[in-house]
Amino acid sequence: MAYITLESGDIISEPTTLVQFLTNHGIFYEYWDPSVLSDRLQHGLDLSDQEKESVFECFQSDLERLSEQHGYTSHDMIILSATTTPNLEELLTNFQREHHHTEDEVRFIVDGEGVFTLTRNDERFGITVTPGDLISVPYGTRHYFTLTDKRHVKAIRLFQSKEGWTAIYDKDVSAS
Ligand SMILES: [Fe+2]
Repeated sequence: MAYITLESGDIISEPTTLVQFLTNHGIFYEYWDPSVLSDRLQHGLDLSDQEKESVFECFQSDLERLSEQHGYTSHDMIILSATTTPNLEELLTNFQREHHHTEDEVRFIVDGEGVFTLTRNDERFGITVTPGDLISVPYGTRHYFTLTDKRHVKAIRLFQSKEGWTAIYDKDVSAS
């Protein structure tokens, strides 16, 4: 399950406190059990399109429920790893530039780990996401993404519209 690292270095990992913290900061969070997946579907980093579809099918009811609740119109899968992403370091350098989007950034972590560093309510903190975590970084929230020492992540991305998910690096551009 996710944990939060505050600027003070304190860590919030107790589930109830974690969810309360995220809710207080307007960040939507759910936990979906990744053990419904076969070993290959969860841990494989070189999934075929057919296998990716199988992952979506395993979470179909949750994907449909969430899409209905929040107006998501599409989803896909992103896999970042040293073995399957030739330009991984270049991509990560780009992801580490602080930015925001005009729609929520919604990720369900299937495997691996990553860290979203956000500024909300004038507070900066890191959310380390691990398998089973579904998180929505609210639109307009300045943030960046990094991998952990595990150096890989596999996630389902949900979109309201792919145009809305373009990264806006300039802090002064309105998110509205
Ligand atoms: Fe982003």
